[in-house]
Amino acid sequence: MSQEQWTAVDRYITDLLVPPDTVLDAALQACEAAGLPPHNVSPNQGKFLQLLARVQGARTILEIGTLGAYSTIWLARALPADGSLVTLEADPKHAEIARANIARANLTEVVDLRLGRDLDTLPQLAAEDRGPFDLIFIDADKPSNPDYFAWALKLSRRGSLIVADNVVRNGAVVDAASNDPSVQGVRRFNELLAESPQVSATAIQTVGSKGYDGFVIAIVTAEL
Ligand code: SAH
Ligand code: DHB
Ligand code: MG
Repeated sequence: MSQEQWTAVDRYITDLLVPPDTVLDAALQACEAAGLPPHNVSPNQGKFLQLLARVQGARTILEIGTLGAYSTIWLARALPADGSLVTLEADPKHAEIARANIARANLTEVVDLRLGRDLDTLPQLAAEDRGPFDLIFIDADKPSNPDYFAWALKLSRRGSLIVADNVVRNGAVVDAASNDPSVQGVRRFNELLAESPQVSATAIQTVGSKGYDGFVIAIVTAEL
């Protein structure tokens, strides 16, 4: 199997099940035009996240890692009228593109974009007594995943759903000796999931237009 085939099948799925949407398409174009890294989820992955949020009945969502707000828009559109989403981004250029994309999506009132390193903004959220969130999407710098998991638990309740992107990394996740800090961050995160009696978790490998990677999904099972 090749990247070409994975991309062709993603195109088939997307053409069939993910109708073109002027706002989402414009968001991707704005990211590309601004030279942002192509680290957004793919369209069918965006819809997958949106479906998870709907299954969860999420009214409050926390996203760690905004980029140009592509996944943000997918998730925010799953919310009921009184729902809200907080998204965290460290890079001012990414945040500027994200704000424009959020405005074009008419989601400025729904989405609270916080500019800053998330190991600063997460404690702020806790101090403000924000949360618990119904769904938390972890998708920022992978070496910090173990810290993000600890914060996700702090900002959760029994029943909260924690989702993390990029946990397979082209298969490199199985290399215990890897000197890639992202691989080590993801491995430690996966180990923490295994060690934490407060969550029930699994991971699913994915292939597609974004290559070979995977998602973690975890539900908080304990009263926190
Ligand atoms: N969720 C987005 C993709 C996020 S890419 C989507 O699917 O559309 C990861 C983002 O995390 C980048 O924009 C990067 O600037 C941001 N990031 C990396 N380290 C960070 C940190 N320490 N604090 C906050 N944001 C960070
Ligand atoms: C990277 C980060 C992401 O969130 C992603 O979806 C793909 C790649 C990265 O940092 O390489
Ligand atoms: Mg990602």
